[in-house]
Amino acid sequence: MGRIEVICAHIPKSRVFADIGCDHGYCTQYALAHGLCERAYISDISAACLKKAEELLGAEIAAGRCVPVCADGMDGLPEPPDCVLIAGMGGEEIVSILSRAARLPARFVLQPMKNAEKVRAFLVARGARIGTDITFRDGKFYDLIAGEGEGGTQYSAFELRYGRDNLLSPSRDFLQKIEKDAATLRAALLAGAEGVRREKLRARLHELEAIADAIEERI
Ligand SMILES: C[S@@+](CC[C@H](N)C(=O)[O-])C[C@H]1O[C@@H](n2cnc3c(N)ncnc32)[C@H](O)[C@@H]1O
Repeated sequence: MGRIEVICAHIPKSRVFADIGCDHGYCTQYALAHGLCERAYISDISAACLKKAEELLGAEIAAGRCVPVCADGMDGLPEPPDCVLIAGMGGEEIVSILSRAARLPARFVLQPMKNAEKVRAFLVARGARIGTDITFRDGKFYDLIAGEGEGGTQYSAFELRYGRDNLLSPSRDFLQKIEKDAATLRAALLAGAEGVRREKLRARLHELEAIADAIEERI
């Protein structure tokens, strides 16, 4: 499955859906076409990016089922959405957007391009329930974190770093990601990393090798 397909497959039903950083608008097109929401906001900080979604969703906008907003994060939304999608941005940007809202949305689908650990830590600290936390491959490796704003999930340090579903029900994609990261660390060690950095790289490599050993035969 492609990245957009994986994201769309995790969009839950809601009344008001918001696609923050919508760019092309494909995910909102999917949500509306599949009856996953009554109405949708497409929002982007860039007017040029938003224009792509406005063109794609012209008929839905004309029918009043989709409302374009050019703003930073959720700042310009006239009502709180009950499902928020933020995909294709860095984890720190996602945390910054979510932390500016008074409360977490009832449902969220997040696909950070990096710093997934920071997103998990923020969600857990805010009392969210993380229901899905997977790594998948579409050329590159991606994380997808989806859940609910309430219902509190406790995560171990390992789960924060790697994602709970990846450890409890590992996929081939996750194993490949772990093997790729381990190969990168081995290359850095072979290239002669020294001192504290070398120790950190070795510790991380041992961790990755232990995870790969633990999950290999469960796939
Ligand atoms: C790589 S695109 C991802 C598009 C789509 N969500 C996806 O996953 O394919 C990132 C989009 O987020 C927008 N963006 C970045 N920071 C933003 C912010 N703080 N608020 C709203 N949109 C933002 C960019 O303008 C860009 O259109």
